[in-house]
Amino acid sequence: MNSHKQIPQIAAIDKLRLTFTAFTKISSSKRDRHVINSSATNTSLAMQTIQNFLPLLHRNTFIRGEMEMPCLPAFIDLYMERLQTLFDTFGKSFSPAENDHLRSLLLGKLEEGFRTSPLSKLVFRYEPSQTPNTGITYTITYTIGSITDQYNNWAATKEPPLFGSHADAKVMELAAQIKEQLGRDPYIVDIGAGTGRNTFPLARMGYQVDALEMTPAFTEQLQAIAQNENLPVNVIACDILNPLTRLKTLAYNLAICCEVTSHFRDADQLRLLLAKACDYLQHGGLLLFNAFMANEGYEPSPLDRQVSELAWSTIFTYQDLHNALDNLPMEIIANDAVLDFERSNLPPEAWPPTSWFESWSTGKDVFPLADHSPIQLRWIVCKRL
Ligand SMILES: C[S@@+](CC[C@H](N)C(=O)[O-])C[C@H]1O[C@@H](n2cnc3c(N)ncnc32)[C@H](O)[C@@H]1O
Repeated sequence: MNSHKQIPQIAAIDKLRLTFTAFTKISSSKRDRHVINSSATNTSLAMQTIQNFLPLLHRNTFIRGEMEMPCLPAFIDLYMERLQTLFDTFGKSFSPAENDHLRSLLLGKLEEGFRTSPLSKLVFRYEPSQTPNTGITYTITYTIGSITDQYNNWAATKEPPLFGSHADAKVMELAAQIKEQLGRDPYIVDIGAGTGRNTFPLARMGYQVDALEMTPAFTEQLQAIAQNENLPVNVIACDILNPLTRLKTLAYNLAICCEVTSHFRDADQLRLLLAKACDYLQHGGLLLFNAFMANEGYEPSPLDRQVSELAWSTIFTYQDLHNALDNLPMEIIANDAVLDFERSNLPPEAWPPTSWFESWSTGKDVFPLADHSPIQLRWIVCKRL
C-alpha cells in the first residue's frame, strides 16, 4: 500500500522504482531492516535525483576560504590533490591548463617561502569570481616563520623548564675531563644556550661561561639569573651563523652546542659552526654538539630533508659531516647516541628531560609511523688540532 503511494513521486525514474519495490518485499519480513533500508534507499534516491540538478547548483554555489599549510615544496603534489578535491566538490573544477598554471604558481611560492624559512606557511585564499563569472579567484602568499618568534612564544606561554631541569650528562662529563686535563677551570662557550640548562650548572662549578643566544626572551632570562646569582656568565646576544658574529680567537677550552643544529638549514651551516669553532677554540680544545645523523645506508630524500627542518630535526648524513669538516683543523674523537648516553648517565629523577625528548631525539617527530626511525640524535665530539 505504502509503496504504491510513493511510487508516483518517482515514476519517471525506472531504476529508482525498481529499488523501491525490492526493498518493500524485504521489509515485510524484517521490520528492523525495513527502517534502515528505507532511510538508506531514500537517501540514495534523493542523491541520485539531486545529481540532475548539480550543474544548476554549482552555478549558484559560491565558496570562499583560506588554507594555511607548511611551505614545503616537496608537498606540491599533495597540495594540488587537496585543492583539486576541494574545488571538484563544489563543481569548480579547473581545466588541465588552469591546473598547470595553479601548480606552477603554487610551487614558486612554496620554494620562495621555504628558502626564506622552513617555518614559513603558505596561505591560499579563494573567493567567488566577480559576476558574470561563476568560477573562483585565488591568491597565494606566504607568511615567514622564525625560530626566535617561536621560542619567544614558548617563553611566554609554556611552563618551564622548557628544555629539561638538568644539564646534559655529556656536557658535565666532558667539562670535568677537560678540567682534569688542564689542571684548572675550563673556559667554556655555550652556543644556543637557551634558558641556561647547561650554562648555569657549569657556572655554578665556578667555570667562566660565555652564553651565546639569539632569542631575546632567553637572553633576558640568562642575564637576570646570572646577575641574581652573581655567576661568572657573560651573555652574548647573537646568531652564531651571522657572518658578523665574532668570538675571541683561540680562547675557549670547550664549546658546547646542544639541541641547536636541529635548527640548521644544511651542511653549509654546519660547516660554518665548525669553522668558527676552529677560530675560537684553543688548540686541543673540544667542541661538543649534537645532531640528527642519518643511519648508515639511509639516504634522505628531498622530502625527508624538508620535513626534518619543519620538525626541528634537520638531518645530516655522515657525508655531510665529513664535507663540513673538510680541510678544517679539527677531527671527530667521539660519537654516541644521545638517548642512550643521557638515559644511562642522568639521575633517575631527571629522566626524561622533557615530555617530547624521547620521541624527538629518536627521530619520531619526522618519522612518526616508522618502526625504526632512520635518524637519531648523536653526541659528536670534535677536537681542535
Ligand atoms: C632547543 S633549544 C636548546 C637550548 C640549550 N642549548 C639546551 O640544550 O637546553 C635551542 C636554542 O638554540 C638557539 N639557537 C638556534 N639557532 C641559533 C643560532 N643560529 N644562533 C644562536 N642561537 C641559536 C635557540 O634560540 C634556542 O634557544
